[in-house]
Amino acid sequence: MTNALWARAHTNIALIKYWGKKDAELMLPANDSLSLTLADFYTETRVTFGGAATDTLRLDDHTLTGPALAKAVKVVDQVRSLAHIQSAALIESYNHVPTAAGLASSASGMAALAGAAAKAAGLTLDHRQLSRLARRGSGSATRSIDGGFVRWFAGHDDDSSFAMPVAAAPELLANIRVVAVVFSDQPKSIGSTDGMARTAATSSYFAAWTERADEDLTLLLPALRQGDFRAVGTIAEGNALAMHAATLAARPPFTYFLPSTLALIQQVGQLREHTGIPVFATVDAGPNVKLLTLSPYVTQLQTWLQTQFPTAQVTITQAGPEMSYHQTRKEENTHA
Ligand code: DP6
Repeated sequence: MTNALWARAHTNIALIKYWGKKDAELMLPANDSLSLTLADFYTETRVTFGGAATDTLRLDDHTLTGPALAKAVKVVDQVRSLAHIQSAALIESYNHVPTAAGLASSASGMAALAGAAAKAAGLTLDHRQLSRLARRGSGSATRSIDGGFVRWFAGHDDDSSFAMPVAAAPELLANIRVVAVVFSDQPKSIGSTDGMARTAATSSYFAAWTERADEDLTLLLPALRQGDFRAVGTIAEGNALAMHAATLAARPPFTYFLPSTLALIQQVGQLREHTGIPVFATVDAGPNVKLLTLSPYVTQLQTWLQTQFPTAQVTITQAGPEMSYHQTRKEENTHA
């Protein structure tokens, strides 16, 4: 028996992407990034120090070793060193990030682990400290401690690289919707860690990309405050395309796009132009597209997607909350 708490952290979608590290050891990004935490996709994790003979990671009731365990141990090691404890950790984790949503679970996974491990070690950490801890596991996890719109300050050392919520017009936060359009749930050929490393090391557009990301962020902040969704969407779409352009200029070049990725981006642009529907596309390190829109347009968009991309899987979500702690897991609650 254990009285350790379950930490629940939600995944996020970046509007200004994190793509490139300036320090891979400390996990310091090349540029500031900004994301929206998502409501329906999350990870629940519990850590028990002394619960296993060696560090053990169980995800959805399966034991994981190799790189997945190594990432988790990086976070747990930080906690052990802060709390001055030596014992091995049993990490139990459940993912509620369906492959059908085309979203990575490393952001919610590492954020939930940071919260759960700190709690289990008896540490009282604020969100800024927790985001730094999550960062050690996966960069995008830095932004999954808080809810709503979140900015990750790149910083220049461990202390200064953390995330914080960003002010946004309440009606924007309430009405923004993310429509995930999934063409493929196959694992990508090059993971984000390797993809961004190759881009940073070899792409002739990398310096231009980081400059562009800074400019986009400067424009995005007032657009969020003013609730100017069209400006938000335009900036996010342009930023995603700039990131993907940098991968095409890497050596060897690569892209995450499938023909359908590009087809959807183009058709969304036409739809916007012809009908005035505010809808914009963003794409992470994979072929699937996340559309940004507002609640009144979701039904119309769904119908349009069914006609234009009948085989794609479509999932809709909205802005999600900050990390939380619970005595039981969610389905334990539901089935109780
Ligand atoms: C395209 O956070 O998965 O989703 O820090 O190496 O674990 P590591 O990478 P990861 O990269 C996310 C890249 C992205 C953009 C973003 O979320 O900002």
